[in-house]
Order: sequence, then structure tokens, then C-alpha cells
Amino acid sequence: MIDKKYERMLLRRRFCKRVIFMILVFGLSFYASVLMFGDLKSTNVLQLIDLNRCPACYGVTVCPELYSNQILLESNYGWTKMFNAKNIYYGFTKSNNRRVVLKKLSHSWELKEFDSKLCKTWGLKENCKPTDLLSVKNADKKIKNLVKYNLSHPETEPRKGLVYCPYPYSIYSLLQPVFNNQLTKYASDVINIWTMLSINPEPIIIQVLPKSKGWPVPAFGGVCGRLELVAYEGEPLSSLMHVAWHRKLKFASKILAAAMDFTFKHDRFRFYLMDWSIDNIVANERDEVTFIDLEDVIVIDKHISPQKDLPHWYKRYSREFTGHGFTFSIHDLCKHHLSDHNLWAACYVLAGQENPLLYPIPNEVNVSRPHFDVLLNECLNGQDRFRTMPKLQQVISDMLADEKIVGFGAVR
Ligand SMILES: Nc1ncnc2c1ncn2[C@@H]1O[C@H](COP(=O)(O)OP(=O)(O)O)[C@@H](O)[C@H]1O
Ligand SMILES: [Mg+2]
Repeated sequence: MIDKKYERMLLRRRFCKRVIFMILVFGLSFYASVLMFGDLKSTNVLQLIDLNRCPACYGVTVCPELYSNQILLESNYGWTKMFNAKNIYYGFTKSNNRRVVLKKLSHSWELKEFDSKLCKTWGLKENCKPTDLLSVKNADKKIKNLVKYNLSHPETEPRKGLVYCPYPYSIYSLLQPVFNNQLTKYASDVINIWTMLSINPEPIIIQVLPKSKGWPVPAFGGVCGRLELVAYEGEPLSSLMHVAWHRKLKFASKILAAAMDFTFKHDRFRFYLMDWSIDNIVANERDEVTFIDLEDVIVIDKHISPQKDLPHWYKRYSREFTGHGFTFSIHDLCKHHLSDHNLWAACYVLAGQENPLLYPIPNEVNVSRPHFDVLLNECLNGQDRFRTMPKLQQVISDMLADEKIVGFGAVR
């Protein structure tokens, strides 16, 4: 009897100890998150701008709107800020209630690191001010060095950001729209470009490929300090995997069209997107698809005269089997005037190994169109994706016109 009582007491004591331990652990981790991610006060748009870092910032085009409170943050970010290490904020326009996304384009610790190296990078005195950058002389060279790829020696470190191939000298032709096509280049604009290329070239790409001309990228609202403002373009495909299959088929059709556009549509450049994750492709209620993360892009200038270092320039490059998963070689992309990278990557989103958008294919579709799966596999593993792609697009557009698939009683 006494033994049992004692046992119960021991159990209770052990239980209490565990509860106290858990409360302590939770409390400590909470305190650590507050320390790491800042205070709990609500965030105001103006707190995100960091205008004092200019000209080492993205520019000032949308500052008037932000300073006159035309853009409001969606909700109190007090709590979400703690978990918002990606530095993405949602808001809306006061005038027409349009949803927008405010992006700092980098983690806070990366921005801090960038700032701490700024003076040294430019060979300025240790405690230099960002405005001292306005009088530097070697900005053009620094910009070319940032985007350049060494054709003779493949780089060993994985490359992030914008790579401009095959030769860096014509980078200003790409940047023309960012300078508003004006002839004189202001020092501050050049430093802004250098900063975006160093931190995240997304605002550059979105201006070179405007949504208004049909490119599947977010509508650009402008930049202010260390903030980019873009339109909210929908939900990521990663959170739409449960929707009806015929809707996914619509997304698929647009993803393939985008892959072809990024490869062929521009008069002068090709754009190979390097991050085709389903978190980076969003769809809106009209099933339009937008590529929202344009940080890692390889731009190819088609108008170059190949030198000795490019013996195979006029040959097409087809992705060779370089291992499982999403792998590619920047070196090969940069040495050929045309590669099938985007085509393969788009098919990988539809039918690859990680969360394939279109798998499993409904039975009815496999029975009525067995060649569809064959074409998807050909696109993933075959020799000639440029030939497979139009066939695949044709089958998909046939299916999208088929009432049995998209109409009443559509397959799920
Ligand atoms: N224009 C946009 N429209 C809708 N959602 C967006 C937009 N931009 C970013 N997002 C959301 O924010 C997330 C992170 O943005 P992203 O640019 O991909 O940053 P990261 O470099 O952290 O991946 C995306 O996965 C998406 O959910
Ligand atoms: Mg992303």
C-alpha cells in the first residue's frame, strides 16, 4: 500500500519535472527567436526600406508612393515577422485595393554581411558612407565581373544570381530597360545595378521582361531602398497540388509555353531559369501562371561573334544525363547558342521525380491518350526535346478542348 503511494508520488514528481522542463525549453526557444528575428512591435512599410543604405540599394522609383502611405501592410506583422526570415511582406494598394508583395530580396543576415563588406569591396576607407560610392571610378568593371562566367575554366563553386554569357562586355544592352533607355547613366543608377546584381537581380529581370509585354513574371511596381514592390500573382503550385487534374493540365500548358518563351521569344537574349521549384511558380484564380523567383537566371546573348573559346557555339546543347534530380551545367549552357534547359526543367516540374504536377495521370487519360505519358518521358529522358515539345503541347491543348477531361464530370 505504502509502496504504491510512494510510486504514485514519484510518478507525479517525474511528470511535474517534465512539464517544467518543457516550459523552460519553450520559453528559451521563444526568447531566442525574439533575439534573432527582432522585436515584436508591428512592422511599418517605412521600417523595411533602409533608404539610408542608398545608393547601395535597388533604387527609389516607388518611394513617393510608400512615403505617402499608398501601400499598406496586410496585417500586423508582429508575430509573423518572427517567422518571416525570408523577408516577404504582403500588402495592398490604398487606391484600388490591389494585393502586392514587398520583397527585401534577401535574408537580413545576408544584407548585414553585404553592408559590412561594402567599403572594402570598393577599396574605400574603413568607415566609408554609402554615398562615397557615388564617386567611385571602376563601377562598370565591377558590374562585368559580377555577371561574367569564365569559359576556359569551369567554376567549381555553385553560382547564384545572374550569369551573363558568353562574354560580359554587352551586359549594358541587357540593362538598357533598367536605365529607362536614357543615354546618360547616372552614378547612382549604376551603383543600384551593381547592388541588385550583388544581392538579387530580380528587379532587373522583371524590368527586362515586362509582364505588360506578355512575359509570365510579376507586374513590377518599383523599388525603394532595399525593397522591391511587385503585384501579388497567386498561390504557389506547391499549395495547389490537390486541385482537379484538368486545372493542373492548364498550369502545365502554361509552364511549357513559358519555357519556350524564355528560350525563344526575346530578339536578342535567352533566359535560362535555374530554380524551377513549385514554390517559385504561382497561379491565380484565372489559372494564369507566373514565375515569381527570378534570382538565379542565366542570360545568353545570341548576337555575339564566337571566338576561339567557343568552338561549338552554333551547335545545340542537349542536357545530358548528369545524375538524379535537378542538375545542370552552367558551363555547357554558356558555350552554346541554344540549349534545351528550360524545356527539360519544365517537363521535370510536370513529370520529374520530385512532386510531379501531373502524376498520377488519371486512368481515363492513360486509356484514351497513352502517348501522353510516352511524350512526357521523352521530354524528360529523350534526345530531342525541341521535337518532343510541340507534340506534347498539341496533346495538352487537345485534352484542354476535350469535354470529357475539362467539362462536366472532369477527371480529378
Ligand atoms: N509576386 C508574388 N506573388 C505571389 N506570391 C509571391 C510573390 N513573390 C513571392 N511570393 C511568395 O513568397 C515566397 C518566397 O518568395 P521568393 O521570391 O521565392 O523568395 P525565396 O528566395 O525566399 O524563395 C514564394 O514562394 C511565394 O509563396
Ligand atoms: Mg523561392
